[in-house]
Amino acid sequence: MIERTLSIVKPDAVTKNAIGAILETFENGGLTVVATKMVKLTKAQAEGFYAVHSERPFFPTLTDFMSEGPIVVSVLEGENAIARHRELLGATDPAEAEEGTVRKRFGTNIERNATHGSDAPDTAAFEIGYFFNALELHRR
Ligand code: RTP
Ligand code: MG
Repeated sequence: MIERTLSIVKPDAVTKNAIGAILETFENGGLTVVATKMVKLTKAQAEGFYAVHSERPFFPTLTDFMSEGPIVVSVLEGENAIARHRELLGATDPAEAEEGTVRKRFGTNIERNATHGSDAPDTAAFEIGYFFNALELHRR
């Protein structure tokens, strides 16, 4: 099934000059970029994006991190894009991520882990709508 998913190059990976390498990994991995832009979130906007994690102990530091500098948000399209994207990202904790995955290559620790990927169709729909309107989403 052709799906769309939201991908974020987080502030740590932007600082590491890894935007191009990360997007290239997605393209080489069978996914197509149908929207992309660089934005800097306020703390409140980061809290809105991660509202589902608001009760987690890491919520304050996660939202500080996600608003510390610019991020690159993209919508990726392809066959089973949600799962495929997360496969390319690797485990949440870079120390446990498989060799060659984006988080293994560019992540620093479990929080500063270089990238975000939607985890299900309903969260993908919410997350895409959080950053992009219909005019900004293109066809392959
Ligand atoms: P993501 O949503 O960013 O794609 O990552 P994920 O599904 O693999 O991980 P999730 O459980 O949704 O956590 C969201 C983000 O919170 C940070 N985190 N910190 N300190 C910690 O124990 C901890 N656990 C998670 C990471 O930045 C993670 O990507
Ligand atoms: Mg998640």
